[in-house]
Amino acid sequence: MRHLIDIRELSTGEIASLLDIADDIMLHPEDYRELCRYKKLATLFFEPSTRTRLSFEAAMYELGGQVLGFSEAASSSAAKGESVADTIRVVGCYADIIAMRHPKEGAPLVASGVSTVPIINAGDGGHNHPTQTLTDLMTIRREKGSLSGFTIGLCGDLKFGRTVHSLISALARYDNVRFVLISPEELKLPSYVKNDVLRAGNREFKQTAADLADVIPQLDVLYMTRVQRERFFNEEDYIRLRDSYILTPSKLANAKSDLTILHPLPRVNEISPEIDSDPRACYFRQALCGKYVRMALILKLLEVTK
Ligand code: CP
Repeated sequence: MRHLIDIRELSTGEIASLLDIADDIMLHPEDYRELCRYKKLATLFFEPSTRTRLSFEAAMYELGGQVLGFSEAASSSAAKGESVADTIRVVGCYADIIAMRHPKEGAPLVASGVSTVPIINAGDGGHNHPTQTLTDLMTIRREKGSLSGFTIGLCGDLKFGRTVHSLISALARYDNVRFVLISPEELKLPSYVKNDVLRAGNREFKQTAADLADVIPQLDVLYMTRVQRERFFNEEDYIRLRDSYILTPSKLANAKSDLTILHPLPRVNEISPEIDSDPRACYFRQALCGKYVRMALILKLLEVTK
């Protein structure tokens, strides 16, 4: 039985195969409509979500399966003090696969240690978000035609942004990907990602707190992120840092004509709505990719083939 807790558990070959299947589902959804008949997905969300939970649920419905679960800890027995381990042991009696989001880093790993069914990490605190990374990789591959040979700028909250940590871990395994890490000093990429992934992998990267307009001309992909209010210890720091980087039409003036602009969403202020109609804005297409790649992942972990 396989789980997906960290994107590095998937080889680049497995990622390519998942993305191929996701592309095929997008083209031929009718071929996949019955593959998970009588299978159930449990979505256990101890933290808020729109895209991840609903795309997982849409994914399972579109595979012919069914969905059960909860969307906040307060409506589960976690509110009465039940442990993650006990919750997972019990939900494994009712579902064939579990997608789980939790505010505590490592909670899905704990879950995978006791589970009788596959566990998918749907985001754990400020740590990892591997299915967002599959979504991001699918979008980059569709927009750029490859996962190699480009410069990506990751901008905003690189400290608490779990999508950033997982995406860097994934892209560091592809050839000739260069990283530009754009953030305020206080929201820099954690040293464990910098040392264990970028330095250990001998990857080309630079950190900067420069203005986005100064950095943007060199980028092929720009990955904007929200400042993660829910991870701050005090509101004053959040208010001071939340608008550090805002992508506006004027900042895009010297960007490449084929720049791919991504954002895992939700967006707060980081991308001006005027950018949405720019053909380089890919973030809503990115959200759509999330459903197809999660369909592919569910099939893989349930060992269902066409
Ligand atoms: N990208 C993402 O994880 O969005 P949600 O928090 O809405 O699931």
